[in-house]
Amino acid sequence: MSLIQVHDKWFQPYISQHEISTRVRDLAGIIKNDYSGKIPLFIPILNGSFMFASDLLKEMDMPVEICFIKLASYKGTVSSGRVVTAIGLDNDLFGRDVIILEDIVDTGKTLSRFLPQLLHQQPASLKICALLYKPDAVVNPVPVDYFGFSIPNKFVVGYGLDYDGLGRNLKEIYQLVE
Ligand code: IMP
Repeated sequence: MSLIQVHDKWFQPYISQHEISTRVRDLAGIIKNDYSGKIPLFIPILNGSFMFASDLLKEMDMPVEICFIKLASYKGTVSSGRVVTAIGLDNDLFGRDVIILEDIVDTGKTLSRFLPQLLHQQPASLKICALLYKPDAVVNPVPVDYFGFSIPNKFVVGYGLDYDGLGRNLKEIYQLVE
């Protein structure tokens, strides 16, 4: 097994390129089936979802719209706590079938703060599709409608996910060696 070093930490191979591509193709098939006759609007969240979104959307041989966004988190009022807003969301979501694409749902904090803003625009439907899901890490539960892999609460890098800026371009997913 070939370990890799990212900054000061060591990671071991965890989910191979082959496992990822097989599962991403399966997910695309399931979503395609669920949205037959519709034109879903995919909203991938940068930076982490860029590889997942690219591979998944290439498999969606049906009409789809795609709008990449970035989330910015800042401190709101005492009552609102941290606020998460979208940069680059220029589509009107009213009446649309929206699918959020995320690299990973970990604590669920980011999405749980962001979803109300999307719902405010009254989409016809709103679903979440995450490549990875860490059920044991969830603090703020969000409905993860589609996920590629359910994984234990351990830090991972690769295939879009970074450790302090590095590792996003790795072709497979690596897990922290503790
Ligand atoms: P949340 O905890 O669900 O709000 O996750 C927010 C973001 O933290 C995710 O979209 C990832 O970009 C990042 N993140 C969470 N867990 C990991 C991990 O294991 N490796 C790399 N990034 C992670």
